[in-house]
Amino acid sequence: MSVEQNQTDVRSLSGTITVPGDKSISHRAVMFGSIANGTTTIRGFLMGEDCLSTIQCFKQLGVRIEQVDDEIIVHGKGIDGLTEPSEVLDVGNSGTTIRLMLGILSGLPFYQTVIGDESIAKRPMKRVTKPLKSMGATIDGRDEANLTPISVRGGNLTGITHTSPVASAQVKSSILLAGLQAKGVTTVLEPHRSRDHTERMLQAFGVNLLITETGVSIEGGQLLQGGGVVNVPGDISSAAFPLVAAAIVPKSEVTIQNVGINPTRAGILDVLKKMGAQLTVSNEREQSGEPVADLTIQYKKLNATTIDGELIPRLIDEIPVLAVLATQAEGKTVIKDAEELKYKETNRIDTVVDQLMKMGADVTSTDDGMIINGPTPLHAARVDSFGDHRIGMAFAIANLIAEGETTILRKEAVAVSYPNFFDMLKDLSR
Ligand code: S3P
Repeated sequence: MSVEQNQTDVRSLSGTITVPGDKSISHRAVMFGSIANGTTTIRGFLMGEDCLSTIQCFKQLGVRIEQVDDEIIVHGKGIDGLTEPSEVLDVGNSGTTIRLMLGILSGLPFYQTVIGDESIAKRPMKRVTKPLKSMGATIDGRDEANLTPISVRGGNLTGITHTSPVASAQVKSSILLAGLQAKGVTTVLEPHRSRDHTERMLQAFGVNLLITETGVSIEGGQLLQGGGVVNVPGDISSAAFPLVAAAIVPKSEVTIQNVGINPTRAGILDVLKKMGAQLTVSNEREQSGEPVADLTIQYKKLNATTIDGELIPRLIDEIPVLAVLATQAEGKTVIKDAEELKYKETNRIDTVVDQLMKMGADVTSTDDGMIINGPTPLHAARVDSFGDHRIGMAFAIANLIAEGETTILRKEAVAVSYPNFFDMLKDLSR
Protein backbone atom coordinates (compact mmCIF):
# COMPACT_ATOMS: atom_id res chain seq x y z
CA MET A 1 0.00 0.00 0.00
CA SER A 2 1.36 3.41 -0.90
CA VAL A 3 1.71 6.25 1.55
CA GLU A 4 -1.03 8.13 -0.33
CA GLN A 5 -3.53 5.26 -0.06
CA ASN A 6 -2.70 4.66 3.55
CA GLN A 7 -3.06 8.28 4.42
CA THR A 8 -6.62 8.46 3.10
CA ASP A 9 -7.61 5.93 5.81
CA VAL A 10 -6.28 8.10 8.58
CA ARG A 11 -8.49 10.54 10.38
CA SER A 12 -6.87 13.95 10.56
CA LEU A 13 -5.98 15.45 13.92
CA SER A 14 -7.42 18.79 14.90
CA GLY A 15 -7.95 20.84 18.01
CA THR A 16 -6.40 23.01 20.67
CA ILE A 17 -4.85 21.29 23.66
CA THR A 18 -2.48 21.75 26.56
CA VAL A 19 0.06 19.12 27.55
CA PRO A 20 1.08 18.05 31.09
CA GLY A 21 3.59 20.11 33.05
CA ASP A 22 7.29 19.98 32.27
CA LYS A 23 8.89 16.94 33.90
CA SER A 24 12.33 18.50 34.46
CA ILE A 25 10.84 21.64 36.01
CA SER A 26 8.33 19.68 38.16
CA HIS A 27 11.14 17.56 39.69
CA ARG A 28 13.23 20.62 40.44
CA ALA A 29 10.32 22.55 41.96
CA VAL A 30 9.76 19.75 44.51
CA MET A 31 13.47 19.31 45.25
CA PHE A 32 14.34 23.00 45.53
CA GLY A 33 11.13 23.72 47.47
CA SER A 34 12.14 20.91 49.85
CA ILE A 35 15.59 22.34 50.59
CA ALA A 36 14.38 25.97 50.75
CA ASN A 37 13.11 27.84 53.76
CA GLY A 38 9.42 28.63 53.37
CA THR A 39 6.39 27.22 51.60
CA THR A 40 6.57 26.80 47.83
CA THR A 41 3.40 26.41 45.76
CA ILE A 42 3.71 24.50 42.50
CA ARG A 43 1.08 25.03 39.79
CA GLY A 44 0.90 22.93 36.65
CA PHE A 45 2.92 20.14 38.33
CA LEU A 46 3.24 16.95 36.26
CA MET A 47 1.31 14.26 38.15
CA GLY A 48 3.24 11.54 36.30
CA GLU A 49 4.92 8.57 37.97
CA ASP A 50 8.45 10.05 37.77
CA CYS A 51 7.59 13.28 39.57
CA LEU A 52 5.45 11.42 42.11
CA SER A 53 8.59 9.37 42.91
CA THR A 54 10.41 12.62 43.68
CA ILE A 55 7.61 13.71 46.03
CA GLN A 56 7.70 10.33 47.79
CA CYS A 57 11.50 10.47 48.28
CA PHE A 58 11.42 13.97 49.76
CA LYS A 59 8.53 13.03 52.04
CA GLN A 60 10.74 10.20 53.32
CA LEU A 61 13.46 12.79 53.91
CA GLY A 62 11.10 14.51 56.32
CA VAL A 63 9.54 17.22 54.12
CA ARG A 64 5.80 17.90 54.41
CA ILE A 65 4.42 17.95 50.85
CA GLU A 66 0.69 18.06 50.18
CA GLN A 67 -1.61 18.18 47.21
CA VAL A 68 -4.36 20.78 47.48
CA ASP A 69 -6.66 20.58 44.43
CA ASP A 70 -4.30 20.85 41.44
CA GLU A 71 -1.44 22.40 43.41
CA ILE A 72 1.51 20.85 45.20
CA ILE A 73 2.50 22.63 48.39
CA VAL A 74 6.04 22.03 49.67
CA HIS A 75 6.75 23.06 53.25
CA GLY A 76 10.53 23.46 53.13
CA LYS A 77 12.52 23.88 56.31
CA GLY A 78 15.89 24.44 54.66
CA ILE A 79 18.40 21.80 53.66
CA ASP A 80 19.24 21.25 57.35
CA GLY A 81 15.58 20.39 57.91
CA LEU A 82 15.94 17.12 55.95
CA THR A 83 16.07 14.03 58.19
CA GLU A 84 17.55 10.54 57.85
CA PRO A 85 15.12 8.22 56.04
CA SER A 86 14.26 4.97 57.79
CA GLU A 87 13.49 3.14 54.52
CA VAL A 88 15.28 2.97 51.17
CA LEU A 89 14.50 5.81 48.76
CA ASP A 90 12.86 4.39 45.63
CA VAL A 91 13.10 6.58 42.50
CA GLY A 92 11.06 4.18 40.33
CA ASN A 93 11.91 4.86 36.67
CA SER A 94 13.30 8.35 37.21
CA GLY A 95 16.89 9.15 36.25
CA THR A 96 16.40 12.81 37.14
CA THR A 97 15.25 11.92 40.67
CA ILE A 98 18.20 9.66 41.41
CA ARG A 99 20.95 11.80 39.89
CA LEU A 100 19.80 15.15 41.31
CA MET A 101 18.91 13.63 44.67
CA LEU A 102 22.36 12.02 44.96
CA GLY A 103 23.80 15.54 44.76
CA ILE A 104 21.58 16.70 47.62
CA LEU A 105 22.16 13.54 49.70
CA SER A 106 25.94 13.90 49.33
CA GLY A 107 25.93 16.88 51.67
CA LEU A 108 23.67 15.33 54.33
CA PRO A 109 25.38 13.74 57.34
CA PHE A 110 23.36 10.54 57.46
CA TYR A 111 22.96 7.15 55.80
CA GLN A 112 20.71 6.64 52.79
CA THR A 113 20.16 3.92 50.22
CA VAL A 114 18.65 4.63 46.82
CA ILE A 115 17.04 2.10 44.50
CA GLY A 116 14.89 2.20 41.36
CA ASP A 117 13.18 -0.09 38.86
CA GLU A 118 14.88 -2.54 36.47
CA SER A 119 15.62 0.22 33.95
CA ILE A 120 17.29 2.42 36.58
CA ALA A 121 19.33 -0.61 37.73
CA LYS A 122 21.02 -0.64 34.29
CA ARG A 123 21.68 3.09 33.95
CA PRO A 124 25.13 4.57 34.66
CA MET A 125 25.41 6.50 37.91
CA LYS A 126 29.21 6.78 38.01
CA ARG A 127 28.90 9.99 35.99
CA VAL A 128 27.58 11.56 39.21
CA THR A 129 28.91 9.32 41.98
CA LYS A 130 32.54 9.72 40.89
CA PRO A 131 32.60 13.55 41.09
CA LEU A 132 30.43 13.47 44.23
CA LYS A 133 32.93 11.10 45.88
CA SER A 134 35.76 13.42 44.87
CA MET A 135 33.92 16.22 46.73
CA GLY A 136 34.02 14.10 49.90
CA ALA A 137 30.81 12.02 49.96
CA THR A 138 31.02 8.33 50.86
CA ILE A 139 29.10 6.48 48.15
CA ASP A 140 28.96 2.79 47.32
CA GLY A 141 27.08 0.56 44.91
CA ARG A 142 27.54 -2.22 42.37
CA ASP A 143 30.30 -1.78 39.80
CA GLU A 144 32.17 0.91 41.78
CA ALA A 145 29.09 2.93 42.68
CA ASN A 146 27.86 2.86 39.07
CA LEU A 147 24.69 0.82 39.55
CA THR A 148 21.85 0.75 42.10
CA PRO A 149 21.33 0.02 44.93
CA ILE A 150 23.52 2.97 45.87
CA SER A 151 24.26 3.95 49.45
CA VAL A 152 25.37 7.43 50.50
CA ARG A 153 26.82 8.77 53.71
CA GLY A 154 27.23 12.48 53.03
CA GLY A 155 28.74 15.54 54.65
CA ASN A 156 31.84 17.76 54.63
CA LEU A 157 32.08 18.47 50.93
CA THR A 158 34.71 20.56 49.17
CA GLY A 159 34.10 22.35 45.87
CA ILE A 160 35.55 20.93 42.64
CA THR A 161 35.85 21.83 38.98
CA HIS A 162 34.27 19.03 37.01
CA THR A 163 34.66 18.76 33.24
CA SER A 164 31.81 16.54 32.10
CA PRO A 165 32.52 14.53 28.95
CA VAL A 166 28.80 14.65 28.08
CA ALA A 167 26.30 17.51 28.00
CA SER A 168 24.02 16.31 30.79
CA ALA A 169 21.74 18.47 32.91
CA GLN A 170 21.41 15.64 35.38
CA VAL A 171 25.18 15.54 35.95
CA LYS A 172 25.47 19.33 36.03
CA SER A 173 22.55 19.71 38.46
CA SER A 174 23.71 16.93 40.76
CA ILE A 175 27.14 18.48 41.19
CA LEU A 176 25.74 22.00 41.61
CA LEU A 177 23.38 20.75 44.34
CA ALA A 178 26.35 19.18 46.14
CA GLY A 179 28.30 22.40 45.47
CA LEU A 180 25.60 24.35 47.29
CA GLN A 181 26.62 22.44 50.41
CA ALA A 182 30.40 22.41 49.79
CA LYS A 183 33.25 24.58 51.03
CA GLY A 184 34.38 27.00 48.30
CA VAL A 185 33.33 27.17 44.68
CA THR A 186 32.11 24.30 42.50
CA THR A 187 32.25 24.58 38.71
CA VAL A 188 30.76 22.28 36.07
CA LEU A 189 32.01 22.54 32.48
CA GLU A 190 30.19 20.87 29.55
CA PRO A 191 30.99 20.23 25.87
CA HIS A 192 27.62 21.77 24.89
CA ARG A 193 25.08 23.56 27.00
CA SER A 194 22.55 21.17 28.57
CA ARG A 195 19.09 22.26 29.71
CA ASP A 196 19.35 25.11 32.20
CA HIS A 197 16.23 24.72 34.36
CA THR A 198 18.38 24.20 37.47
CA GLU A 199 20.20 27.48 36.93
CA ARG A 200 16.99 29.40 36.26
CA MET A 201 15.16 27.97 39.25
CA LEU A 202 18.06 28.21 41.71
CA GLN A 203 18.29 31.90 40.81
CA ALA A 204 14.53 32.27 41.38
CA PHE A 205 15.13 30.78 44.86
CA GLY A 206 17.73 33.51 45.50
CA VAL A 207 20.95 31.60 44.74
CA ASN A 208 23.80 33.39 42.96
CA LEU A 209 25.46 31.56 40.09
CA LEU A 210 28.17 32.46 37.63
CA ILE A 211 27.06 31.28 34.18
CA THR A 212 29.47 31.38 31.24
CA GLU A 213 29.44 29.97 27.69
CA THR A 214 31.05 26.73 28.85
CA GLY A 215 29.79 26.16 32.36
CA VAL A 216 28.31 27.18 35.69
CA SER A 217 29.88 27.99 39.08
CA ILE A 218 28.25 28.04 42.48
CA GLU A 219 29.58 29.24 45.83
CA GLY A 220 28.82 26.86 48.70
CA GLY A 221 26.82 27.80 51.78
CA GLN A 222 24.03 29.71 50.01
CA LEU A 223 20.49 29.21 51.34
CA LEU A 224 17.40 28.84 49.16
CA GLN A 225 14.53 31.19 49.87
CA GLY A 226 11.12 29.56 49.32
CA GLY A 227 7.74 31.15 49.78
CA GLY A 228 6.99 31.70 46.10
CA VAL A 229 4.94 30.11 43.36
CA VAL A 230 6.40 28.00 40.56
CA ASN A 231 4.19 27.97 37.46
CA VAL A 232 5.28 24.92 35.48
CA PRO A 233 4.85 25.30 31.69
CA GLY A 234 3.67 22.49 29.43
CA ASP A 235 6.42 20.00 28.59
CA ILE A 236 7.85 20.45 25.09
CA SER A 237 8.97 16.81 25.26
CA SER A 238 5.28 15.83 25.62
CA ALA A 239 4.15 18.41 23.05
CA ALA A 240 6.55 16.69 20.63
CA PHE A 241 4.08 13.81 20.15
CA PRO A 242 1.01 15.79 18.99
CA LEU A 243 3.35 18.10 17.03
CA VAL A 244 4.81 15.22 15.05
CA ALA A 245 1.39 13.56 14.72
CA ALA A 246 -0.10 16.69 13.12
CA ALA A 247 2.96 17.10 10.89
CA ILE A 248 2.58 13.61 9.37
CA VAL A 249 -1.18 12.97 9.29
CA PRO A 250 -2.71 14.75 6.25
CA LYS A 251 -5.18 17.59 6.78
CA SER A 252 -4.21 17.98 10.44
CA GLU A 253 -3.94 21.22 12.38
CA VAL A 254 -3.19 21.26 16.09
CA THR A 255 -2.50 24.09 18.54
CA ILE A 256 -0.73 23.38 21.81
CA GLN A 257 -1.01 26.19 24.34
CA ASN A 258 1.39 27.12 27.10
CA VAL A 259 4.45 25.08 26.07
CA GLY A 260 7.91 25.76 27.53
CA ILE A 261 10.22 26.90 24.72
CA ASN A 262 13.44 27.32 26.73
CA PRO A 263 16.15 27.44 24.01
CA THR A 264 18.08 24.64 25.75
CA ARG A 265 15.00 22.43 25.20
CA ALA A 266 13.46 23.71 21.97
CA GLY A 267 15.69 21.94 19.43
CA ILE A 268 12.65 20.14 18.01
CA LEU A 269 11.19 23.46 16.86
CA ASP A 270 14.41 24.27 14.98
CA VAL A 271 14.37 20.82 13.36
CA LEU A 272 10.71 21.05 12.36
CA LYS A 273 11.35 24.43 10.72
CA LYS A 274 14.48 23.11 8.97
CA MET A 275 12.43 20.21 7.59
CA GLY A 276 9.88 22.69 6.18
CA ALA A 277 7.05 22.24 8.70
CA GLN A 278 4.13 24.66 8.81
CA LEU A 279 4.82 25.72 12.40
CA THR A 280 3.83 28.95 14.15
CA VAL A 281 5.11 30.04 17.54
CA SER A 282 2.81 32.69 19.03
CA ASN A 283 1.95 34.46 22.26
CA GLU A 284 5.55 34.28 23.52
CA ARG A 285 5.83 35.22 27.18
CA GLU A 286 7.73 34.39 30.36
CA GLN A 287 6.44 32.33 33.26
CA SER A 288 8.43 31.66 36.46
CA GLY A 289 11.66 32.54 34.67
CA GLU A 290 10.99 30.21 31.70
CA PRO A 291 9.96 31.24 28.15
CA VAL A 292 6.55 29.91 27.12
CA ALA A 293 4.49 30.06 23.89
CA ASP A 294 1.60 28.54 21.95
CA LEU A 295 2.54 26.26 19.07
CA THR A 296 0.41 25.65 15.97
CA ILE A 297 1.32 23.08 13.35
CA GLN A 298 -0.33 21.93 10.15
CA TYR A 299 0.34 18.87 8.03
CA LYS A 300 2.88 19.46 5.29
CA LYS A 301 5.27 17.23 3.31
CA LEU A 302 8.69 17.51 4.93
CA ASN A 303 12.30 17.16 3.83
CA ALA A 304 15.00 15.08 5.51
CA THR A 305 17.63 16.75 7.66
CA THR A 306 20.73 16.18 9.77
CA ILE A 307 20.43 16.31 13.56
CA ASP A 308 23.78 16.54 15.33
CA GLY A 309 26.20 18.52 17.53
CA GLU A 310 24.80 21.16 19.87
CA LEU A 311 21.26 20.30 18.76
CA ILE A 312 21.42 16.87 20.39
CA PRO A 313 21.17 17.92 24.07
CA ARG A 314 18.44 20.39 23.04
CA LEU A 315 16.17 17.59 21.77
CA ILE A 316 17.59 14.38 23.21
CA ASP A 317 14.24 13.11 24.55
CA GLU A 318 12.45 13.90 21.27
CA ILE A 319 14.66 11.69 19.08
CA PRO A 320 12.36 8.62 19.19
CA VAL A 321 9.40 10.59 17.79
CA LEU A 322 11.64 12.58 15.41
CA ALA A 323 12.79 9.23 14.01
CA VAL A 324 9.14 8.39 13.31
CA LEU A 325 8.77 11.79 11.61
CA ALA A 326 11.88 11.16 9.51
CA THR A 327 10.33 7.99 8.03
CA GLN A 328 7.81 10.32 6.32
CA ALA A 329 10.29 12.99 5.18
CA GLU A 330 11.72 13.09 1.65
CA GLY A 331 15.38 12.00 1.65
CA LYS A 332 17.98 10.79 4.10
CA THR A 333 17.79 11.94 7.73
CA VAL A 334 21.00 11.47 9.68
CA ILE A 335 21.00 11.54 13.50
CA LYS A 336 24.53 11.53 14.91
CA ASP A 337 26.50 12.58 18.03
CA ALA A 338 23.66 10.98 20.01
CA GLU A 339 25.44 8.13 21.81
CA GLU A 340 23.72 9.33 25.00
CA LEU A 341 20.55 7.67 23.65
CA LYS A 342 22.08 4.36 24.76
CA TYR A 343 21.85 5.41 28.41
CA LYS A 344 18.23 6.51 28.56
CA GLU A 345 15.25 4.51 29.95
CA THR A 346 16.16 1.96 27.26
CA ASN A 347 18.95 1.95 24.70
CA ARG A 348 16.94 4.21 22.43
CA ILE A 349 19.09 3.65 19.36
CA ASP A 350 18.30 -0.07 19.51
CA THR A 351 14.68 0.21 20.60
CA VAL A 352 13.76 2.85 18.00
CA VAL A 353 15.58 1.17 15.11
CA ASP A 354 14.33 -2.36 15.90
CA GLN A 355 10.69 -1.31 16.30
CA LEU A 356 10.73 0.98 13.24
CA MET A 357 12.14 -1.87 11.15
CA LYS A 358 9.24 -4.09 12.26
CA MET A 359 6.89 -1.44 10.80
CA GLY A 360 8.70 -1.37 7.46
CA ALA A 361 10.87 1.74 7.86
CA ASP A 362 14.17 2.09 6.02
CA VAL A 363 16.39 2.70 9.05
CA THR A 364 19.90 1.69 10.08
CA SER A 365 21.55 2.12 13.45
CA THR A 366 25.01 3.66 13.78
CA ASP A 367 27.37 3.92 16.77
CA ASP A 368 26.02 7.32 17.74
CA GLY A 369 22.60 7.54 16.12
CA MET A 370 20.68 6.30 13.10
CA ILE A 371 20.05 6.92 9.40
CA ILE A 372 16.51 6.99 8.06
CA ASN A 373 15.47 7.09 4.40
CA GLY A 374 12.02 8.34 3.57
CA PRO A 375 9.28 8.57 2.82
CA THR A 376 8.32 4.96 3.52
CA PRO A 377 4.81 3.60 4.13
CA LEU A 378 4.62 1.99 7.57
CA HIS A 379 2.60 -1.12 8.33
CA ALA A 380 1.16 -2.49 11.55
CA ALA A 381 3.37 -4.62 13.76
CA ARG A 382 3.67 -5.92 17.29
CA VAL A 383 6.08 -3.42 18.82
CA ASP A 384 7.39 -3.18 22.37
CA SER A 385 7.95 -0.06 24.47
CA PHE A 386 10.24 -2.13 26.73
CA GLY A 387 8.73 -0.07 29.54
CA ASP A 388 10.10 3.18 28.06
CA HIS A 389 7.42 5.89 28.06
CA ARG A 390 8.81 7.81 25.09
CA ILE A 391 9.13 4.66 22.97
CA GLY A 392 5.51 3.74 23.74
CA MET A 393 4.31 7.20 22.68
CA ALA A 394 6.53 7.42 19.59
CA PHE A 395 5.04 4.17 18.28
CA ALA A 396 1.49 5.26 19.05
CA ILE A 397 2.24 8.18 16.68
CA ALA A 398 3.73 5.81 14.08
CA ASN A 399 0.54 3.75 14.34
CA LEU A 400 -1.50 6.77 13.17
CA ILE A 401 0.01 6.52 9.70
CA ALA A 402 0.48 2.74 9.51
CA GLU A 403 -1.70 0.34 7.59
CA GLY A 404 -3.58 -1.83 10.08
CA GLU A 405 -3.61 -1.75 13.86
CA THR A 406 -0.29 -1.83 15.69
CA THR A 407 -0.02 -3.51 19.08
CA ILE A 408 2.21 -1.71 21.56
CA LEU A 409 3.36 -3.94 24.38
CA ARG A 410 3.80 -2.33 27.81
CA LYS A 411 2.11 0.85 26.63
CA GLU A 412 1.09 1.73 30.20
CA ALA A 413 4.66 3.07 30.54
CA VAL A 414 3.34 6.39 29.14
CA ALA A 415 2.12 7.20 32.68
CA VAL A 416 5.72 8.06 33.59
CA SER A 417 5.44 11.44 31.83
CA TYR A 418 2.05 11.70 30.06
CA PRO A 419 -0.72 9.94 32.00
CA ASN A 420 -3.58 10.94 29.64
CA PHE A 421 -1.61 10.51 26.42
CA PHE A 422 -4.04 8.08 24.75
CA ASP A 423 -7.07 10.23 25.67
CA MET A 424 -5.32 13.23 24.11
CA LEU A 425 -4.81 11.31 20.85
CA LYS A 426 -8.44 10.17 20.83
CA ASP A 427 -9.69 13.71 21.45
CA LEU A 428 -7.59 15.13 18.61
CA SER A 429 -8.78 12.51 16.11
CA ARG A 430 -12.50 13.02 16.74
C1 S3P B 1 16.83 15.70 32.29
C2 S3P B 1 17.96 15.73 31.54
C3 S3P B 1 18.19 14.85 30.39
C4 S3P B 1 16.90 14.23 29.87
C5 S3P B 1 16.04 13.71 30.98
C6 S3P B 1 15.69 14.82 31.96
C7 S3P B 1 16.72 16.60 33.45
O1 S3P B 1 19.06 13.81 30.77
O2 S3P B 1 17.18 13.21 28.96
O3 S3P B 1 14.84 13.16 30.47
O4 S3P B 1 15.60 16.83 33.95
O5 S3P B 1 17.75 17.11 33.90
P1 S3P B 1 20.66 14.03 30.80
O6 S3P B 1 20.89 15.18 31.67
O7 S3P B 1 21.23 12.79 31.39
O8 S3P B 1 21.05 14.22 29.38
